[in-house]
Parts: sequence; C-alpha cells; structure tokens
Amino acid sequence: MTAAANRSIIALCGSPRVGGNTDLLVDACLQGAREAGLGGEKFQLNQLQIRPCQECGGCLKSGQCVIGDDMPKIYSYLRQARGLILASPIFFGSLTAQTKALIDRGQCCWVAKYLLKTPFFPQEAKIPGVFLCVGGMNRYQFFQNAQQIVKVWFTIMNIRYLSELFYPGIDQKGQIKRHPLAIQQAMRLGRYLAQIILESV
Ligand SMILES: Cc1cc2nc3c(=O)[nH]c(=O)nc-3n(C[C@H](O)[C@H](O)[C@H](O)COP(=O)(O)O)c2cc1C
Repeated sequence: MTAAANRSIIALCGSPRVGGNTDLLVDACLQGAREAGLGGEKFQLNQLQIRPCQECGGCLKSGQCVIGDDMPKIYSYLRQARGLILASPIFFGSLTAQTKALIDRGQCCWVAKYLLKTPFFPQEAKIPGVFLCVGGMNRYQFFQNAQQIVKVWFTIMNIRYLSELFYPGIDQKGQIKRHPLAIQQAMRLGRYLAQIILESV
C-alpha cells in the first residue's frame, strides 16, 4: 500500500482472480474516476493478510481490533478515502471469503459505533461507495443477497451506498470484456462517483 491512497478513492477487489471479471470492472471504474479528475488505488484483498474475525471480544473495551494483520492499514486508508469501490464476484450465492472476511472484521467498528458511541469513522460526512458484482449464473437473488451484506457493512463504516453494477451470466475469466456495456458502465459509474465527491467539496 502506498501513500497515494490518501484522500482519493480506494478500490477493494475481492476476487482471487487477478485480471478476472471483477478486477477488470474495478480498473474501468477507477479509470472513469481518473478521467473525472480523481485518482484512486486498488487493493487486491486476496493479496492482503485479513484473518476472519475470531469473536474474541478483544474490541469490546476499546473498539479496536486486536488481530495484528493488514486490517489496521485498510482502516487507516478507509478513514482518509473520499470514496470507495467495493467489488466481489458471487461465490456460493454470496460474497467471496476474502470480501466477507473484510466485512466481518468491521465488528470492531460496530462496537465503536453502537456500544462505545465513539465511531471509528467520521460521522459528519459519509463518503460515497459503489458496489460491483459479477456472477456466473443468472440468479438475481445472489446479487440481492450480496447487496444486503454490503449495505450493512457500508452502514457500519459510515459509507453512503451510492450505486451498484450487477452482471449475471459472466463466468469465464475476462468474459466481461465481451459484454456489450459492462466496461463502459463501470467507467461511467467511476466518473459519477468522482463527480459526486468533487462536487461535495
Ligand atoms: C468457488 C466458486 C463459487 C461460485 N459460486 C457461484 C454462485 O453461487 N453463483 C454464481 O452465479 N456464480 C458462482 N461462481 C462463478 C463466479 O461468480 C464467476 O466465475 C465470476 O465471473 C468470477 O469473477 P472473477 O473473474 O472476477 O473472479 C462461483 C465461482 C467459484 C470459483
């Protein structure tokens, strides 16, 4: 992770397949944002150390997670970010394990916000976030399922759920490039995200 993520958009890509469909959508979304005047940085969750929540209660007194992995770094970038792109393919009707591990580690933020009343993320200005999702099958319920989980996490993290792009029926690596609209739509969403952020200054 570099300092470039400070005060820009951060993109968290939850697919293990680098160069896969989700990854390509994230790149297009970031490109759109750049074209609209706001840079961003992508993180591959699969390449970070994110242990699943241990339900140890270590966060109950301080609101801070006691697991020493890459999550504190992600939190520090999220606190400084002006916008978020979260992306995951559908795995078994839900988000990938990499994405869900990230989300479950939001438990310390839930504790800070609701039990300790000392929110970890600034409450006054919600940053906007978008959700990108691809699935091999044509089952819209899977996307709704994933969307509900992401929305809960966004609420805990004080991220405003701005919009989403869902692409069913996309299975092979890189297949999203052959979709007639997907890459353009992801670029357009990135531009929109950047515009919303820049207009709010
Ligand atoms: C372990 C695993 C589970 C999957 N489960 C589902 C599923 O439940 N529903 C679905 O529509 N696609 C499922 N897929 C297909 C992926 O969503 C699809 O291949 C997607 O394009 C992968 O995106 P990526 O290239 O960004 O990794 C699964 C794929 C894998 C590897």
